[in-house]
Amino acid sequence: MRRALVVGNWKMNLDHVEAVHLTQQLAVILASRPAEHVDVVVAPPFVDLRSVTSVIEAEHSVLEVAAQHVNPRPAGAHTGEIAVPMLTRLRVRWVIVGHSERRTHYGMDDQVVAETARAAVAGGLRAIVCVGEDEDVRARGEHRGFVEAQVLAALSGLSAPEGDVVVAYEPIWAIGTGRTASVADVAEMTEVIRAAVAATGVRGVRVLYGGSVTADNAAELFAADVDGFLVGGASLRAESFAAIVAAGESCYAGGR
Ligand code: PGA
Repeated sequence: MRRALVVGNWKMNLDHVEAVHLTQQLAVILASRPAEHVDVVVAPPFVDLRSVTSVIEAEHSVLEVAAQHVNPRPAGAHTGEIAVPMLTRLRVRWVIVGHSERRTHYGMDDQVVAETARAAVAGGLRAIVCVGEDEDVRARGEHRGFVEAQVLAALSGLSAPEGDVVVAYEPIWAIGTGRTASVADVAEMTEVIRAAVAATGVRGVRVLYGGSVTADNAAELFAADVDGFLVGGASLRAESFAAIVAAGESCYAGGR
């Protein structure tokens, strides 16, 4: 049976004290309202990771942890970077790869995204690969081809165990803007992404949507045949994030 996946991308928010607080709140909510058909992941800043994994272990919580980025090289002279083994040693299971903010502001091109996805999976992490067009590409009507090319580039040459790769469709114009993509837009792009993924031969890939997902629109967006969400702003408060998880649970509990 398919399981939903809801990932909270905290971005550059919450220091380790705030992170502990939010993780504790989420652990309590998920223990009292179990979401048995949803994998729930939080992606805190690097400096919070150890505190967050400690809270999860102490609370015996089902929450899992992602890093927001990783360097594809195993070690060495890369000031300011973090390597895959450093994350797995901290019991981090997931990593976000190629978020549009990293592609746009930190020079991550398709080739580096692909290298990072390969290194992450080879090192035992599950990769959440982000794709998505900006407003200009969509205005020119080129969004389908653009996103298809991003998927093919990111997953090319990737050999991954089933379930270890996730693709998140995050149109840049919908991120942090309150302009959520419509169900029809998301459904169209999920289909494009599933076809591109099939062409790469990578199996068991769940497709997420991200971009101004909230507690209010999550249930409706599940109708777009997505397997879940990558949530930014609404993941910073326990109640709104938990409500998105609950929307996934009600959608999947009936055996989607
Ligand atoms: P948002 O961010 O939910 O705040 O739009 C989503 C993301 O960038 O992952």
